[in-house]
Amino acid sequence: MSLDDKDKKIMLSEKEMPRQWYNINPDLPRPLDPPLHPQTGKPLTPDDLSILFPMELIMQEVSMDRFIDIPKELIDIYRMWRPTPLVRAERLEKFLDTPAKIYFKNESVSPAGSHKPNTAVAQAYYNKMEGTKNLATETGAGQWGSALAFACNIFGIGCTVYMVRVSYDQKPYRKLMMRLWGADVYASPSDRTDAGKNMLAEDPNSPGSLGLAISEAVEVAAKSGGTTKYSLGSVLNHVILHQSIVGLETKKQFEKIGEFPDILIGCVGGGSNFGGFTFPFISDKMKNKDMRIIAVEPIACPSLTKGPFAYDYGDTAKTGPIAKMYTLGHDFIPPGIHAGGLRYHGMSPQVSLLYNEKLIEAVAVHQKTIFDAGAIFTKTEGIIPAPETCHAIRVVIDEALECKKTGEKKVIAFNFSGHGHFDLSSYEAYMDGKLLNYEYPDEKIKESLKKLPKF
Ligand SMILES: Cc1ncc(COP(=O)(O)O)c(C=O)c1O
Repeated sequence: MSLDDKDKKIMLSEKEMPRQWYNINPDLPRPLDPPLHPQTGKPLTPDDLSILFPMELIMQEVSMDRFIDIPKELIDIYRMWRPTPLVRAERLEKFLDTPAKIYFKNESVSPAGSHKPNTAVAQAYYNKMEGTKNLATETGAGQWGSALAFACNIFGIGCTVYMVRVSYDQKPYRKLMMRLWGADVYASPSDRTDAGKNMLAEDPNSPGSLGLAISEAVEVAAKSGGTTKYSLGSVLNHVILHQSIVGLETKKQFEKIGEFPDILIGCVGGGSNFGGFTFPFISDKMKNKDMRIIAVEPIACPSLTKGPFAYDYGDTAKTGPIAKMYTLGHDFIPPGIHAGGLRYHGMSPQVSLLYNEKLIEAVAVHQKTIFDAGAIFTKTEGIIPAPETCHAIRVVIDEALECKKTGEKKVIAFNFSGHGHFDLSSYEAYMDGKLLNYEYPDEKIKESLKKLPKF
């Protein structure tokens, strides 16, 4: 096997790690629609948000500065796992017999096993600086909860995690990781909040949803009298800002080998790994029309491909901000698919706007086919991908096979957002033939969309 005399892993030294994050706000083709207050429907002010977030993160959320300095303390922490390698998947290429070159940015090398710590440590840092004693959050598959538990432990602040019931039962070892880092973990819906109790009264067997777990964590923060703040692992501008380090490194790595990607691919739940990986390339895309940027979502939770671009609540109990985004409706309870991190009803407003402007594409894929892709990747490149990441790999394989048909030597790069070491029960269901392909009925989506706020 020849690698054209190039290394399999393109590395950056710690000195080459970016010292600033990239903020796409000033480069968006039009401004974002303002987030609205859930009760008044008026544009949110920084003061409205201060009950949930520290001021520095609120300022980042609305910043129009293209680059924002990464504090030195965070650079030191990032050095625990960053820069991450950009890896040429030549074994996968060989298996597919494709002329395409496939690269993956390996974010699974972080302590928690995904891209999520890139923002978790930043959020914990700014909270610590402003005196927060405890952070409350939600988690789907457990990757975000474990990332925040890891980050809070570093800064000596408490961490309370509401974990979506179906994942809580499917992924028991993620719970233990969080507890080992010192977090308290509760299945959502729980009987600790009004939002949870209301849901349990309606459906004692509710599998939960990210929208509901967010409501529980927001309620805990809002009622804490200021000691507990809320932390979100995706969707928001400041989260994608922190994740931009992934794409900035990737750009430098491609520069090192004198190549440039023709296709960038990432899976999307709330949009943070996709946004972080691709946004630093959006201005290139604006100049170079041939480049494709593809977001991949589950057919079971198809916000970009089936939802309208509309104002909706970010959470089920309607207590968090209202945002303009592609949405399936805030009370949408997606089926218990195995990619728990892709079960959010909405989408990052920045990703939504770029999709609406046709600067990015979206594809929805079935659960079984993503595990086929994950199994191929495991057997060729050796790393077991998280089910979320398998969505990206599915489309990478499809695009590489298309290149085989056309003979094109495209450069395809994707974000390997996390490993699946704690998702093996999902792989077991796949190997035992117990996985179902679930397509959300259009009727149910329509029903949920009737409840969009009328502002
Ligand atoms: C490994 C992995 N990839 C992707 C996602 C999707 O989230 P996002 O769209 O914010 O990257 C998650 C969410 O939990 C995840 O754990």
